[in-house]
Amino acid sequence: MTSLQELLLSRIKDVPDYPKPGIVFKDITPLLADSAAFTALTDAFAEICLRQGATKVVGLEARGFILAAPVAVRAGVGFVPVRKAGKLPGATLGQTYALEYGRAEVEIQANALTADDRVLMIDDVLATGGTAEASLELIRRAGAQVTGLAVLMELGFLDGRAKAEAALSGAPLEAL
Ligand code: PRP
Repeated sequence: MTSLQELLLSRIKDVPDYPKPGIVFKDITPLLADSAAFTALTDAFAEICLRQGATKVVGLEARGFILAAPVAVRAGVGFVPVRKAGKLPGATLGQTYALEYGRAEVEIQANALTADDRVLMIDDVLATGGTAEASLELIRRAGAQVTGLAVLMELGFLDGRAKAEAALSGAPLEAL
């Protein structure tokens, strides 16, 4: 394990039985509250952004916003939000996806990206991969090229990687 991984892991708290019995929630608030750890995470994401030549960073509501926005500033590129349905003004594109029970929908503004944009998508957790799959589809439908997906952590036992990699069609998935 690298020293960055040790630092990040030490600042993520397991919260048993939240939000429901049997679920172990990964609480990133200790990481966000620690300036050194948050800066190290932002720098690592920004390095990926610069290496991939991304022109935009897309962050996923809500925790993805917190992680992706400082990366955009650090890397000198724009930030574009993918939000839960009904929160963005103007023309939007929407994509529904399956949850454990029922369906959810994410949206992006129809004019947020252009064909010249190369997009790095950032989120905190890759779990089942449903959110990532739907959001990557939105970025493509908005006309941009996806350079990659970067997440703080991947929950390996849920196999979201297979779904995300299929949606990435060859672009890299990096889990810090
Ligand atoms: C969480 C997390 C990811 C998503 C991963 O978002 O931030 O976006 O779930 O799950 P999946 O891989 O199974 O799709 P959630 O909407 O629960 O919470 P948030 O609004 O606090 O970020």
